[in-house]
Amino acid sequence: MDILLVGGGGREHSLAWKIAQSPQLTRLFCAPGNPGIGEIAATVEIADTDVEGLVKFATSNRVDLVVVGPEAPLAAGLADRLAEANIPCFGPSQAAAQLEASKGFVKDLCRDYNIPTAAYGRFTAPDEAVAFLDKMKAPFVIKADGLAAGKGVIIAETREEAEATIHDMLGGQFGGAGAEIVIEEFMEGEEASFFALTDGYSILPFIAAQDHKRAFDGDQGPNTGGMGAYSPAPVFTRAIEDRVMAEIIQPTVKAMQDKGAPYVGVLFAGLMITDDGPKLIEYNARFGDPECQVLMRRMKGDILPLLLAAATGDLKGTSVDWHDDACALIVLAAQGYPGKYEKGSRIKRVRDAAAMPGVEVFHAGTKLTDDGLVANGGRVLNITAMGPTGKDAIAKAYRAVDTIDWPEGFCRQDIGWRLLAREEV
Ligand code: AMP
Ligand code: GLY
Repeated sequence: MDILLVGGGGREHSLAWKIAQSPQLTRLFCAPGNPGIGEIAATVEIADTDVEGLVKFATSNRVDLVVVGPEAPLAAGLADRLAEANIPCFGPSQAAAQLEASKGFVKDLCRDYNIPTAAYGRFTAPDEAVAFLDKMKAPFVIKADGLAAGKGVIIAETREEAEATIHDMLGGQFGGAGAEIVIEEFMEGEEASFFALTDGYSILPFIAAQDHKRAFDGDQGPNTGGMGAYSPAPVFTRAIEDRVMAEIIQPTVKAMQDKGAPYVGVLFAGLMITDDGPKLIEYNARFGDPECQVLMRRMKGDILPLLLAAATGDLKGTSVDWHDDACALIVLAAQGYPGKYEKGSRIKRVRDAAAMPGVEVFHAGTKLTDDGLVANGGRVLNITAMGPTGKDAIAKAYRAVDTIDWPEGFCRQDIGWRLLAREEV
C-alpha cells in the first residue's frame, strides 16, 4: 500500500514510525513531514493546509490511503475532496469534524443524546451571556465556539473576570472563532484523554492517556499544546472505559449517523472523571499530540489495516492489542514557549538518546541545516520510553532527556506525577 500522511509534528512522526513497520506498506509519503519523519518516509513540500495540493499529490501518485494528523485540513474539507477523488481518507468530513470545530455543536448533541457533560448556554449577545452568569457559580468556564488553537478556553475565578472575558471574546478577540461563545459549569475531577477508531458505524476502542497542559512544574503557568504524556492512565479503569463507551462514544457515533454526517477516523474524547462518573469536556477530530505518541509505542501489531478499515467502512470485527508496559513522554521545548522563543539553536546527541534501550525520540519542531539539527518550533522533541512500571518509564525518559545536548531547551521535571503517586499506593 502507498500512504500519504499529512502533518509534520511529533504526532505524525509517531504515526509514520508505526506505519513504517507495516508489512503491507510499499511507499510512505509525508506532507510536509519533518527531519525525523524524513528518515523513514519520503517528505513532500506541501503545507498541511494546502487541500488542493494534497489532493493533487494523492491523485497523481495513486496513494491507497491518506492519513490526516492535524485538525486544520479536516476542518477545511480535505476528507470531502479526497472522497470526490475516490481516495480513502482516515479522518472525518468537514461536517463530521464539527465535533472539534464547534463547541456549541457538541454541547447541543450531548443535550439531545443525553451524553454526560457540563451544563451550558450558547451566546452571541454579551448582555444575554452576562445575565446567564446569574444562574452559574464561580469558577465560570467560558469558551470561544470555534477553533482557537487551544487558547479559546478561559476559566474565570470571579464574576468580574467572567464579564470581561465575555466582552473580549464576543468583541472579536478570536475573530470568527469567538463570534459565538459557550458558558459552562465547572467540573471537578481528573482529566483523561480517550481514543476510539470508527468507520462511522463500528467502533474500535483504543486506550486512554493523560497529558500535562501547563508549561511549568506543579501544573503551573500558561496552557500549552501538552508538555508530556503517559499511558496507561490509572484513573481510567475498565469500569470507566465501559461507561465512556456506552454513555459517550456510542451515542456520539449514532448521533453523527442521524445527522447524515457519519464520523470516520479517530474520535478523541477529552474527559473529566468526576465523582459522578466520566463526563465529556470536548471532542477532537484527530489523535492528541503528545498522546498519540505514547499510544503508538504501546500498540502491538500492524496499524495500517486498522486505519484503512476505518477509512473504508470495514472496521467491524477488527481488534487491537497493547503492550502491558507503560510509556512516558517528555516534551523538550524552546525556552520561552508557549510565549516568544528563538529558532535555530543547535541540538546535539539526539541519536545517542534514541539509541538507549526502550527509548524512541520523535521530532516535533526541528530543522536539518548544514550545521546539523536545529530547533524550529516551540515544542521541539518528544522523548518517549517504555518500562514495566510508570516509574521505570519516566526515569528512563528523563535519562534520555539528560543525554541530549540543547542548552536552549527546557522540559517539565514532574511529568507523570499523578501516575507516580498512584503507583506508590
Ligand atoms: P478544552 O479546550 O475544551 O479541552 O478546554 C481546555 C481545558 O480547560 C480542559 O483540558 C480542562 O482542563 C479545562 N476545562 C474545559 N472545560 C471545563 C469544565 N467545564 N470544567 C472544568 N475544566 C474545564
Ligand atoms: N494534547 C491535547 C491535544 O492534542 O489537543
